[in-house]
Amino acid sequence: MQAILRLLRGDPRFLVMSWLARFIAVREWVANRGSYTPPATVGQGVIQATAGARFLDSSGQVAKLIKAHGYYVGFSLQSSILQDLRTFAETMPCYANRDPTLPFYVKNKVQFEQELGAPLLVAGYLDSHETCDAYQKLKTDPYLLDVASQYLNHSAVYMRGELAWGFPAPNTLAERVSTARVYHCDINDFKTIKFFFYLTDVGEGEGPHAYIKGSHRHRQFGHQWIGQGCAAIDDDILVELYGRDRVHVVTGPAGLGFAGDPYCLHKGSVPDQQPRLLLQLEYGIYPYRIWYF
Ligand SMILES: [Fe+2]
Repeated sequence: MQAILRLLRGDPRFLVMSWLARFIAVREWVANRGSYTPPATVGQGVIQATAGARFLDSSGQVAKLIKAHGYYVGFSLQSSILQDLRTFAETMPCYANRDPTLPFYVKNKVQFEQELGAPLLVAGYLDSHETCDAYQKLKTDPYLLDVASQYLNHSAVYMRGELAWGFPAPNTLAERVSTARVYHCDINDFKTIKFFFYLTDVGEGEGPHAYIKGSHRHRQFGHQWIGQGCAAIDDDILVELYGRDRVHVVTGPAGLGFAGDPYCLHKGSVPDQQPRLLLQLEYGIYPYRIWYF
């Protein structure tokens, strides 16, 4: 009840959206009411084709594939941008469990954990990544903005981003739920799109991201009704129901980029070998004055 009152006071439109946007029909109706005309040509930014690919898919093609599958994997960061982001992460403090009172440098992680008396699962840079030039180039990249706007069918509004480490550490189900390491959906607007970039190599042992293909368009009505509450359903139940063969685990080298509709069921996982450094940016249709927390 307190959370509802906080949202109501902060921005009543957000409260209305958080209830209505859980239904696929409403999401599609709002998106279809928009109108976005893509530019004739998209300027060269900081995104390139993945190694070995002949060319970068057009922004229109990427948006179309996200509409069909819920996500798209297949672009990468220019190496200079990747390097700048890595340098930022190595030279700026990150914050244990995203707690602003617990800063440390990642090179001192082992010593910091000893002082803390507990192994760390996550550490983020809060909003400090906004001061990084490479991040600003990415945030305003014409290709990403065009992909987002074509998918949303509205001029994309930047909502937020995060740069964060995931570390190998023992964990409980409650910790996995609170750090988005179980299948869930995020409802941050009537429709949003999130871009992810691996800044370290990510294999099966480094906590890869996973999607359940098509679950943004085909979702049991009961699961639409509970919205973000899907996170409380056991992963195996969701996978059995929506199709084991539809699970796509995204692995790849540092620099790999992918994009998805956060309404499509997805999760990160806890690394069991090497740490993972992940950058994410989310764009939506409408700006709000408040968020869930
Ligand atoms: Fe999520």
